[in-house]
Amino acid sequence: MTLIRYLFFMCSIPKTSALNLFTRCPGLYCGRELVSDGNWSDCGACPRGFRANASSICIPCNDEPMLYDWLYLGFMALLALVLHWFCIDMVSMRRNIPKKVIALHLSALLEVVSASLITLQLTDPVGSFSVRSCKVTKLSDWYTLLHNPSPNYEETLHCTQEAVYPLYTMVFIFYALGTAIMLMIRPIIAKKFLPKKGKFSIYAALYFYPILALLHAVGGGLIYYSFPYITITLSVLSNAAHFSFKLNQSMKALLLSCVSNMKNAIVILGHWLLYGYGLMAAATFQGLGIHPAMLALVPLPALFYILTARFTDPHKLHIE
Ligand SMILES: *[C@@H]1O[C@H](CO)[C@@H](O)[C@H](O)[C@H]1NC(C)=O
Ligand SMILES: *[C@@H]1O[C@H](CO)[C@@H](O)[C@H](O)[C@H]1NC(C)=O
Ligand SMILES: *[C@@H]1O[C@H](CO)[C@@H](O)[C@H](O)[C@H]1NC(C)=O
Repeated sequence: MTLIRYLFFMCSIPKTSALNLFTRCPGLYCGRELVSDGNWSDCGACPRGFRANASSICIPCNDEPMLYDWLYLGFMALLALVLHWFCIDMVSMRRNIPKKVIALHLSALLEVVSASLITLQLTDPVGSFSVRSCKVTKLSDWYTLLHNPSPNYEETLHCTQEAVYPLYTMVFIFYALGTAIMLMIRPIIAKKFLPKKGKFSIYAALYFYPILALLHAVGGGLIYYSFPYITITLSVLSNAAHFSFKLNQSMKALLLSCVSNMKNAIVILGHWLLYGYGLMAAATFQGLGIHPAMLALVPLPALFYILTARFTDPHKLHIE
């Protein structure tokens, strides 16, 4: 074994660049690039849009994002949209949705959609809706900062880079654009339709956008792997919360509330859509593919609450 290594070493000494080529860099994310003079550079971070392969050569990110990546990007956009809608709803404090509030809701939708489209246009290849990316292979790809190697415990090699190019930066661009577009459009709409309360929806968004960006900066990788389950859990909890605020908890009254009031119907439909999105993402994550039969699962949380509400009524617990 040592003899073979020795022979290999002796053979590769005359060709320095070849020697460089065949020694792996320490760490997962350090790589070498071809410099203009034809030599290979020292180990270091690959330039943006490149990623070190198994033999530590920086190769350009030319993968197409997978369906799961698109679902992840969609989740980050949906998160902003749902928070917008929730804040507008809280601010307006109406049992129903008058036209004035619908204008604000539509404005939020327009902002999020246009911010998403512009983000797609700005990411490489610029001017097209397609995206050139590097595959996410494991959680540490999101946290290259924590994986700078220090060979021989001496100095640290700085190989921090965006290994999940461009999923990480895209989300920041989207949040920045979403804030900018909101500040351009929303004040006009709010002034016209809901002058007093409308501006509070803008203040709320100015709070949650930075919080979302911070969450993404710190928890991006964790969110990437858990967002299907986050979506399912949040939609089930929020669905239960929605029903539990109803005064009459009898089965008939709960069922009637779903159809008698336009706002209730929209809220419940929205929960179903979110739950369906979560199911679809979970199936993709597990590599199961999307089956039409999964549609049958979508109304389950709502039905479950309605059917079991009378067993969990606290008043009945006291009597028994
Ligand atoms: C490549 O690197 C070798 C060794 O460092 C150096 O001698 C040579 O001049 C370099 N080649 C060019 C074209 O600069
Ligand atoms: C890494 O990329 C280089 C240059 O494209 C290629 O020669 C080498 O085979 C690749 N290594 C692996 C393990 O794919
Ligand atoms: C709840 O609704 C049901 C059916 O509409 C009705 O019979 C019942 O009296 C209501 N209960 C209360 C407390 O209002």
